Amino acid sequence: MNILITGATGFIASHTIVELQQDNHNIIGIDNLSNSSIDIVDKIAQITGKKMEFHKVDIRDYDNLKSVLSGKKIDCCIHFAGLKAVGESVAKPVEYYDNNIGGTITLLKVLNEIGCHNIIFSSSATVYGTPAFVPITEECPKRICTNPYGWTKSMIEQILLDMQNANKDWNVVLLRYFNPIGAHQSGIIGEKPNGIPNNLMPYITQVACGKREKLFVYGNDYDTPDGTGVRDYIHVVDLARGHVKALNAINNNCGGEIFNLGTGHGYSVLDVVKTFERVNNIKIPYEIAPRRPGDIATCYADPSKAEKILGWRAEYSLEDMCRDSWNYQQKN
Ligand code: WQD
Repeated sequence: MNILITGATGFIASHTIVELQQDNHNIIGIDNLSNSSIDIVDKIAQITGKKMEFHKVDIRDYDNLKSVLSGKKIDCCIHFAGLKAVGESVAKPVEYYDNNIGGTITLLKVLNEIGCHNIIFSSSATVYGTPAFVPITEECPKRICTNPYGWTKSMIEQILLDMQNANKDWNVVLLRYFNPIGAHQSGIIGEKPNGIPNNLMPYITQVACGKREKLFVYGNDYDTPDGTGVRDYIHVVDLARGHVKALNAINNNCGGEIFNLGTGHGYSVLDVVKTFERVNNIKIPYEIAPRRPGDIATCYADPSKAEKILGWRAEYSLEDMCRDSWNYQQKN
């Protein structure tokens, strides 16, 4: 299939392109390079031996997007492009709504004009807010998001489902990621956040390589086994393979579908720290700090729907995630 990838040089998109190219799909990648480097295009090619067609495009730029895509046969769009820093979204809400929602609406207009009515959207478990129950199924109600980033994911989901409901030509698949970590086993691509990492694993790897003095554990008084936050960490390669499988739902004319992409296992912050130390034989100094505003205690998936309908299940362990994250950090 001819697949349009937005946000193509980002963390999850780049790993997804590797899996798609290895599954013999043809990739047209676009990215505005605001939060990633064009070097990723060649790094992906270094892994797969195939260089994707890439264009520097901002999805809010209708004219540029239309001129790049006109005349192309796009079978499906996998839409990753978006700003994703939770804390930054609180400080710059209008920029997040403009970029994430405004950009998506422009993208949908162009896709419709070129006759592409298939989209897979990079959503997030954050749409569940403080989940009504765990493990979380797709029937779990969406709740109040604790930040504008989360609201953009939740609102874009609604826009896509309403669009599909109004026009049955569209197939829409919403993939709700839990906590993607790890890196491609080659160590050529991985997670490289700008500035101080917001997320746990890149912060741990920067402590491990001496770039940061110690990890601050945001609260140990949650109602969890060891008091620290529990999350469903999923290897980014498992997540990428979930997107390849999601194409099956598109090809089966699924209409509108939602899938949780998680492992079904919850691990605490200290579980991750201890596993990272054991697997990589490195000490990670940490200090208990106050809770981070907006954090929830526990979040992990019931991934059985994706297994049943997509034939997908996460295969890598927390040990694999810790090993691959550290391998990438050492090489970059
Ligand atoms: C995980 C746990 C923290 C950093 C967010 C978004 C989600 C997705 C992933 C984009 C929590 C604790 C963290 C640190 C810590 N975003 N922590 N010290 O908040 O579950 O999810 O990122 O794709 O949509 O909501 O991920 O990695 O920030 O935090 O103690 O320095 O680690 O309190 O319990 P989170 P996270």
